[in-house]
Formats: sequence, C-alpha cells, structure tokens
Amino acid sequence: MNSIVRLMPDATALQPDFRSAMRQLVGGVSVITVGRGDEVTGMTVSSLSSLSIEPASVIVSLNRNASSWPILQRERVFGANLLAAGQVGVAERFSGKGGLRGAERFAGAEWRKHVTGVPLLVGALAALDCEVEEIIERHSHGIVIGRVVHVEVAPQSAALAYWHGGYVHVDRDEDVARLAPLGGPDPQDEP
Ligand SMILES: Cc1cc2nc3c(=O)[nH]c(=O)nc-3n(C[C@H](O)[C@H](O)[C@H](O)COP(=O)(O)O)c2cc1C
Repeated sequence: MNSIVRLMPDATALQPDFRSAMRQLVGGVSVITVGRGDEVTGMTVSSLSSLSIEPASVIVSLNRNASSWPILQRERVFGANLLAAGQVGVAERFSGKGGLRGAERFAGAEWRKHVTGVPLLVGALAALDCEVEEIIERHSHGIVIGRVVHVEVAPQSAALAYWHGGYVHVDRDEDVARLAPLGGPDPQDEP
C-alpha cells in the first residue's frame, strides 16, 4: 500500500493537495442551461450526477459567482445536457473561455425547448429538462437538486469526460474490451 497520509497545519495548506486529488477524479462533462426567451445562458460542469431514479432527480454543484446562478435562482428550472465526445466545442463555449456571454454561447449548435422552456442540446448524449427542487448554499457553491420532468436520449456511444485538466473521450465501442477485465460491461451482454 503506497498511500500517503499527511497532517496539514491549516485548511489553506491543504488546498494544493486537494486540487491535485480532485484532478484524479474523472468527470462526465455536461452543460447546464438556464433562462428562457432572450435571457439564456449556461455553464460547463463536471459535477452533475444522478441523485435518485424514483423520483428521477439529479444533483449539481454550481459556483454562485457564475452568471447562470441568479437566473437559475429566479427561474427555478434548468437543462442538463450530457455531452458527446464530439462536443468539446460546446463545452469550451460554455466554460466562459473566450469571453462569450449569454446567448452567444449557444451559437453553432442546435437547441430545442421541451417542457420547462430552457434550451436542450440536440445531439447531446442525453438532455434532461429539470425543475429545481431544492438549493443548498454551501461555501462558494450552490448544491442544486433537480427533479427531471423530460428526458431526451441519443444513440451515440462516445462520451466527453474531463480528467487531469483536459478533455478525454470514453468510447463504449473502442474501450469496452479493455474495460471488461476491470469489471466493465461484457460485450456479450449487449442487447
Ligand atoms: C470541464 C469543466 C467542468 C466544470 N465544472 C464546473 C462545475 O461542476 N461547477 C461549477 O460551478 N463550475 C464548473 N466549471 C466552470 C464553469 O464552466 C465556469 O466557471 C462558468 O462557465 C463561468 O461562467 P460565467 O462566465 O457565466 O460566470 C467547469 C469548467 C470546465 C471547463
């Protein structure tokens, strides 16, 4: 066992190691969309995850300084768009890099409204229309619990993930054989 345990004198001293630790965590990349009509925006996240199946609900952590935050709080609805491997460009636009703001971030991709009226990305691996069930404000972030009211699922198999500060592809067809010995899905089990 080669784990390293260190005693840290204070919380600030812990931060570099904590950042390094979190870089080890592979995260699926999604775009949270907020707003309706002209006032739309959104942000790239890796913190989206499933909360429960029954009822269908998700959880996501959003920085309260992000431009999406006040709109989410006011409108109480959001879209969660799970990006496919080919959608790095969308992730970049919604990460705030390049200074794109609001509706500018939506250019170059196709968006469609479903139940709540927030734009959902056509061609995403999956897109969830959500109503805010609860917001827990903690530290710099808000933990948002969303009740899923509509689901779009696409047939693509390659997902976009973020790991060690960069985008990576997870391709079911290419990677499944390599993943199988680690306990991944058995290709024989595929429908
Ligand atoms: C791959 C990736 C994952 C991110 N994950 C999160 C996240 O989970 N929560 C968050 O608050 N910000 C996250 N960010 C940062 C936001 O995308 C960024 O701060 C936001 O788009 C800036 O928004 P603004 O310019 O509208 O204020 C992530 C950025 C990237 C590139």
